[in-house]
Amino acid sequence: MTRVLSCIQPTGEVHLGNYLGALRNWVDGQDKADVFHGIVDLHALTVTEEPGLIGANTLQLAAMLFAIGLNPDVATVFVQSHIAEHSQLSWIMECTVSFGELSRMTQFKDKSAKREAEFVSAGLFTYPALQAADILLYDADEVPVGDDQRQHVEITRDIAIRFNHRFGETFVIPKAVTPSNGARVMDLQNPTAKMSKSEDDDAGVIYLLDSPATIEKKFKRAVTDSDSEVAYDRQRKPGVSNLLEILAASTLISPQLAAAKFSRYDDLKTASADAVVAMLEPIQRRYGELLKDKGELMRLIHKGNSRAQVVAAKTLSRAQNAIGFLGKD
Ligand code: TRP
Repeated sequence: MTRVLSCIQPTGEVHLGNYLGALRNWVDGQDKADVFHGIVDLHALTVTEEPGLIGANTLQLAAMLFAIGLNPDVATVFVQSHIAEHSQLSWIMECTVSFGELSRMTQFKDKSAKREAEFVSAGLFTYPALQAADILLYDADEVPVGDDQRQHVEITRDIAIRFNHRFGETFVIPKAVTPSNGARVMDLQNPTAKMSKSEDDDAGVIYLLDSPATIEKKFKRAVTDSDSEVAYDRQRKPGVSNLLEILAASTLISPQLAAAKFSRYDDLKTASADAVVAMLEPIQRRYGELLKDKGELMRLIHKGNSRAQVVAAKTLSRAQNAIGFLGKD
């Protein structure tokens, strides 16, 4: 069976763009492939400094992943820092990738530029080596990613090929795949930019834990377009098209079909808000239940961890043996 790996950083609340663009596909995919999903807290450390925050975010994200429907009996959900092999293989990856290759990563260039006067850790620079370890440890055949992560999967392939060439066949060469029906959700206030969490302005971002009243308010204030025609046309009508895309993804119809049902922006906004509230209601309920029972939540996490650990340990020792470190016995 195809092994699929995708990971998410515990850096704050999950929003509708994460859910409709990626996470919902994880749930759909769990019965079609052997899926591994990591909560990559070591990656979050590249940009998080507050004591305790990563752990709290990790627990909440785990609850959210189960709340949206990942089934712990089928999907392997694990916490990256709980599997020491990630850090161990990461060093080997660092020694298999060049300074020049890491310097060309656009995500590093963007993130380090954005941090301006803030601390830019070496971890932010070597981040792709850790990501390569994540992917290669699980012999992943496929890594579903958005455009922003393709370069990281490419560099993982380059690293794997180089390692196999130097030390002999060890790693499966993964390939980046585009999630089959991921919706492109844009910011409600700025519909030409992808929805993403922001520290200062959340008016255009719907979080999965937003109350119905907040969701309604955010949709009511959503930016539309200057004329008054309801049509799906991303270029000409980004605001309205975004609402249609969200409504369509929430009700599992096409945006074009959704467009045909409305003649007024206000009605489209109300319908979009209602659809999102209805979609999120059961998720919020399960999330609340899970977080109330930390023991059960930890049990589910341990279940995934132990499956992940077995695979990771085997791959790491394969790599160590290929390199030919002195054995311990
Ligand atoms: N870099 C990814 C992101 O920011 C997160 C990530 C870490 C990842 N390791 C991974 C994604 C392995 C896919 C596979 O979204």
